[in-house]
Amino acid sequence: MKKNMQMRRSIHSLILLLLLLGCENKSLEKFDSVIDHAEDQFEYAISQIEIEKVDETIAPRTFESGKIKLVPAEDWTSGFFAGNLWMMYELTRDAKWQDLALQYTLPLESEKWNDENHDIGFKMYCSYGHAIKYINNPEYKDVLIQSAKTLCTRYSPVVGCIRSWDSLTDQWDYPVIIDNMMNLELLMWAAKTTGNDSFREIAVKHAQTTMKNHFRDDYSCYHVIGYDPQTGAVVKRNTHQGFADESDWSRGQAWALYGYTMMYRETGMEEFLTQAKHIANYLISTEGVSENSIPYWDFEAPNIPNEPKDASAAAVISSALFELYGYTKDGDHLSVAKEIMNALISDQYFASVGENGGFLLKHSTGSKPYKSEIDVPLVYADYYFLESLIKYKAYANM
Ligand code: GLY
Repeated sequence: MKKNMQMRRSIHSLILLLLLLGCENKSLEKFDSVIDHAEDQFEYAISQIEIEKVDETIAPRTFESGKIKLVPAEDWTSGFFAGNLWMMYELTRDAKWQDLALQYTLPLESEKWNDENHDIGFKMYCSYGHAIKYINNPEYKDVLIQSAKTLCTRYSPVVGCIRSWDSLTDQWDYPVIIDNMMNLELLMWAAKTTGNDSFREIAVKHAQTTMKNHFRDDYSCYHVIGYDPQTGAVVKRNTHQGFADESDWSRGQAWALYGYTMMYRETGMEEFLTQAKHIANYLISTEGVSENSIPYWDFEAPNIPNEPKDASAAAVISSALFELYGYTKDGDHLSVAKEIMNALISDQYFASVGENGGFLLKHSTGSKPYKSEIDVPLVYADYYFLESLIKYKAYANM
């Protein structure tokens, strides 16, 4: 079944690649109009957020029941909106976006001490990590270096991984989730910036342990691995946000692809490129992604096609595939990334200005099993969508 899908996909991709190459300029023009549209939508978003904000809330996360949900700095999603504004600055070079981006970045500073979970990488690298590209302020670097040190306090040399959560102790002693791969980028940045190799050693070991224990033979992955903190042995393999322990939670597969692509970029280690290619092949050959380019929230959700989609997983996959294409020059990687982007900018997924709470994309799913954020906009879907746009433009100039 998967072989047939792969063959169909390859022929389809070849035709599409030829068509897409012929239409490259047209597509780029289309993406320029997407950026104009995003500017209008973010202006609307900010006008709404400023009305809704209360003291402890600093950034938007989603839009539910006609209301923007704002979160405090400790929420795992608190850095993405700042990142979105930094990427608007990258895409437009209009100083207005830099000013706004900084305004949404600075309130995150105190999170550099937050050692309660692994999410510090998402929060700090997706906000301050952009700020340091444009503003040479040593204080911002110090914030990131402290954040990396804080993340390292969660590392166990016995397990060879950073512990993801301290909560849910009734289920896991030492849980490590596939999402954790994303936070290694902060450590790789810290290693390069400080010259302290221990950041890199922890990131590499975490990625290697995850490669050994999180993946099935077909390169799909589990969401959560429960380790024995005394011995480092795997105790159980589960899901938390997916349909079942043995199913493929879409965003988890997306984090895996992105994580190993990024680790190859940062280390040049062939084993990570090989892993990223295997995961990409798995994703491209599976019905999960091939159906309409935008995956359902779980590839094995029980009521497909009557299940919600997850545009956030699609955006993460697209961003990773554009980058992976830069390393592999595999036409399938490029054409699937473009297919996803074309689906995301269709009326079905791309919101009109003034709707959707000011978020760009519709139809993401946070956690279906917990009946939370089902078929809603999510700030991190917009983040990886904007990153894909930047990578798309970079590819067009290659
Ligand atoms: N890292 C949390 C999530 O992907 O939902």
